[in-house]
Amino acid sequence: MLTTTKKILAAADNGGYAVGAFNVNNLEILQAVVEAAVESRSPVILQTSEGAVEYAGMDYLLALMRVGAGAKVPMAIHLDHGKDLALIKKAIDSGYTSVMFDGSTLPYKKNVADTKKVVAWAGKKGVSVEAEIGAIKGVEDLVSVSEKEAFFTDPEEAARFAKETGCDALAVSVGTAHGARKFKGEQALDIARLEKIDGLVKAPLVLHGASGISPELVEKTRMLCDQLEDCARLEGSSGVPDAMIAAAIRAGIRKINIDSDLRIAFTAGVREAIVRDHKTIDPRKLLGPAKRMMKEVAKHKMELFGSSGKA
Ligand code: G3H
Ligand code: 13P
Ligand code: ZN
Repeated sequence: MLTTTKKILAAADNGGYAVGAFNVNNLEILQAVVEAAVESRSPVILQTSEGAVEYAGMDYLLALMRVGAGAKVPMAIHLDHGKDLALIKKAIDSGYTSVMFDGSTLPYKKNVADTKKVVAWAGKKGVSVEAEIGAIKGVEDLVSVSEKEAFFTDPEEAARFAKETGCDALAVSVGTAHGARKFKGEQALDIARLEKIDGLVKAPLVLHGASGISPELVEKTRMLCDQLEDCARLEGSSGVPDAMIAAAIRAGIRKINIDSDLRIAFTAGVREAIVRDHKTIDPRKLLGPAKRMMKEVAKHKMELFGSSGKA
């Protein structure tokens, strides 16, 4: 059932677990995530990025997510990484239950001012707001680990930011990165920093860039790649190991964003379908296996995050 992100995260905070927020771009992704949530009896957050809205249209995506949210587990509809204030306003007015304002690349004062603006609009509609302080940078943006650390969230600044803006959830930067190449060399998160932020900030904390980038699934995206001469896909990829996710949840993370792992499962499924069936031109036969693989990924996350059985 459709509920608010605020309620879902408050329950997670009480129970000491985290809830997955999965990026939805089409019907198959939506169904995979919803079916996983129902079978796992897990609350879930369905989220669309500005890119997804540009690709599929807000109305189509909202219609899909509303149907999905008719299932018998708590679900919320969230705008991920909103940067365009007009689009955020539209999402608030159209029925999203939460929005993210991503002002992480703005100067501190501007980030505070724009976040407050969004909090005021959202408050009138009972919509909650996720904000971001510190920037989530990856190995593709930066050269060295120390350069990446320069963008990590400062605990005192996070506390001040949360107080000044009145945001309902806070995305923090503690070592993760978006996409499939998260670490150069050793995989590491700054758990001590996270614990400190959690001690100072009341709002639930959000981990972006949290995909695990499973080597087994990556290998499946390369089925017959020698013959097809495309073995470079996802070369040098690395993700956040499950044990690190568990540590981040113990340190206070309550919402965990997953997109890349679904993308990889989708690609692996389509690859397998094409390689195994040279005759089909039926989109359902091409996308069905992709949906099943994404569903397995989502179920695994719900188990790992501790949200399974909580609905
Ligand atoms: O955080 C970013 C998500 O992976 C969404 O990516 O903007 O390409 O839809 P996108
Ligand atoms: P991944 O790229 O690790 O899946 O992160 C997704 C994300 O943070 C969406 O906001
Ligand atoms: Zn993100």
